[in-house]
Amino acid sequence: MEIIIRPDSQQASMIAAGIVARTVREKPHAVLGLATGNTPLQLYRNLVRMHRDEGLDFAGMTSFNLDEYVGIPPAHPSSFHSYMWAHLFSHINLPKERINIPDGLTTDVPAACRKYEQAIRSAGGIDVQVLGIGSNGHIGFNEPSSSLSSRTRIKTLTEESRLDVAAAFGGEEGVPTHVLTMGLGTIMDARKCLLLAFGKKKARAVARTVEGPVTAMVPGSVLQLHPRTILVLDKDAASELEMADYYAWVHEHKPDWQKY
Ligand code: GLP
Repeated sequence: MEIIIRPDSQQASMIAAGIVARTVREKPHAVLGLATGNTPLQLYRNLVRMHRDEGLDFAGMTSFNLDEYVGIPPAHPSSFHSYMWAHLFSHINLPKERINIPDGLTTDVPAACRKYEQAIRSAGGIDVQVLGIGSNGHIGFNEPSSSLSSRTRIKTLTEESRLDVAAAFGGEEGVPTHVLTMGLGTIMDARKCLLLAFGKKKARAVARTVEGPVTAMVPGSVLQLHPRTILVLDKDAASELEMADYYAWVHEHKPDWQKY
């Protein structure tokens, strides 16, 4: 794992945008794996700015989102569809027909999940997968106890995860109980994983992900088995890492050719 620690989320998000932009520039038909939540908002803002001011071109890209709520129509203001259009898709030139988000309204969940996996394979696999992390260590919506080799499927949200998004649904009662999410095995197939985490609230999950044992109880910890995972953290999210000074030293002394 490569661990990059920046003083604040703004600087961290600039680094993250640079990593995604590099893939976009180097591979005109790249496949992007995208996440929702508060964490990637500044990353998306940077990508929108790079598209507008520097001509960063998404015309040949394909995207796959990690997850979507079950039973929530795409037009619902708190759906991940709405989030992605509001914060990224409406502002860049990624073709609509190559945007993929799990269908939370499907009447045949197993078939829809199989189709999603097949679509990722047909597109050539994900080049860079953007990830946030839940305060309980989930990535995508793979809650603790998720199989480390799971594929896209339906999951039941934990109470902690439902509370985290309660405000967006007018209180816990309104939060969907189920989601469709890429599995940990699906995420592990990405050629590169880019996990962002900001704030004290994420510090414990980050420390367990990086320095704890690989365990289904901390789904993010499976990334220890991934050959190309980069974590971009702010100081607060890195505050419980025992070897934070070492990671910072390593990063500062990397030759340019080896960075990212
Ligand atoms: C959400 C998403 C995850 C996200 C995480 C953290 O529910 N399913 O993909 O990384 O929870 O969210 P936030 O970035 O808002 O803290």
